[in-house]
Amino acid sequence: MRLKALVLSGGKGTRLRPITHTSAKQLVPIANKPILFYGLEAIARCGIREVGIVVGETQAEIRAAVSDGKKWGIQVTYIPQSAPLGLAHAVKISEPFLKRDDFVMYLGDNLLRDGIESFVGEFKKKKPNALILLTKVAHPEQFGVAELSNGIVKRLEEKPKKPKSDMALVGVYMFDSNIFKAVKAIQPSGRGELEITDAIQYLIDKKFKVMPHTVSGWWKDTGRLEDLLEANGLVLMSAKSRNDGAVDAESDLEGTVIIEKGAKVSKSRIRGPAIIGERAEISNSYVGPNTSIYHDTRLKNCGIEHSIVLENSVIENVELIEGSLIGQNAVVRQSPAKPSAYRIMIGDSSRVEIP
Ligand code: G1P
Repeated sequence: MRLKALVLSGGKGTRLRPITHTSAKQLVPIANKPILFYGLEAIARCGIREVGIVVGETQAEIRAAVSDGKKWGIQVTYIPQSAPLGLAHAVKISEPFLKRDDFVMYLGDNLLRDGIESFVGEFKKKKPNALILLTKVAHPEQFGVAELSNGIVKRLEEKPKKPKSDMALVGVYMFDSNIFKAVKAIQPSGRGELEITDAIQYLIDKKFKVMPHTVSGWWKDTGRLEDLLEANGLVLMSAKSRNDGAVDAESDLEGTVIIEKGAKVSKSRIRGPAIIGERAEISNSYVGPNTSIYHDTRLKNCGIEHSIVLENSVIENVELIEGSLIGQNAVVRQSPAKPSAYRIMIGDSSRVEIP
């Protein structure tokens, strides 16, 4: 039996506005690589070749970034979803691609340290109708929640107000073709979406075999700023130092630091884990732990840590920025103009915290 993958890359990314006004949440870089690429790599490592990507409003960008998938040795089919009507709706419209084959469904903004090989391996070995991936979380009310008893999935609930367990559904699932019966039978939830959680509950109710699998290593749903920054730090932490750029004698690199091709670092201190993107210029600055500076960004006379800066931005004369996500082509700088005041031109749904 052939195994396919269905990657969901639609959605509005409302929790990451304003970045997602202009770009797809799945393409925000973590350690200077789009989140979505980590998922595609994990799928390719399982030997899966046929990958359907469900795309929405941001499809042009996703297509430009992923193309035909050759880079990963996979063959990509794009499946446009007319509106974000839910994960189960995405499965429903993908039936012509999936046909009767088993498949792994992967939410494009999820990141798993250890990939999905053991998960896929267990599905192949035990052949349930559905395998769900679970992990303990501090705030189960923000996720789909599973109630287990003696290793069996008893009940699932989508974002319950009073969760009955702290085991959350991670955004990676495996199904056989019985899932199509379920996604056709269920009704939209309170948020107006066809929930995959309800579809799996339907399988349980109809006595199909739904098994749990627990995540090893860490998992992050990168839909919120805090999680995105944490994921960035976690990925950087397990990276290896590399210097493909130019670092002058007056600069200091500590810990894991990756300097990409054409980047220039002068009179600066970089305390890893951190990554400096291609052609970026860092001068007279401090780049602290868990920071990713993307291609063509310039930092002068400033400090930054626990942050992600996207491409072609400029930061100048700012003492210390932390816990921040700065978009593309942005400018953050101290202005000498009097009176000394905050002057801000900022996008919709932005967030600025001033001391
Ligand atoms: C979705 C699922 C939820 C799951 C989560 C994992 O939530 O509906 O059950 O726990 O992904 O990332 P959403 O991100 O659509 O709110």
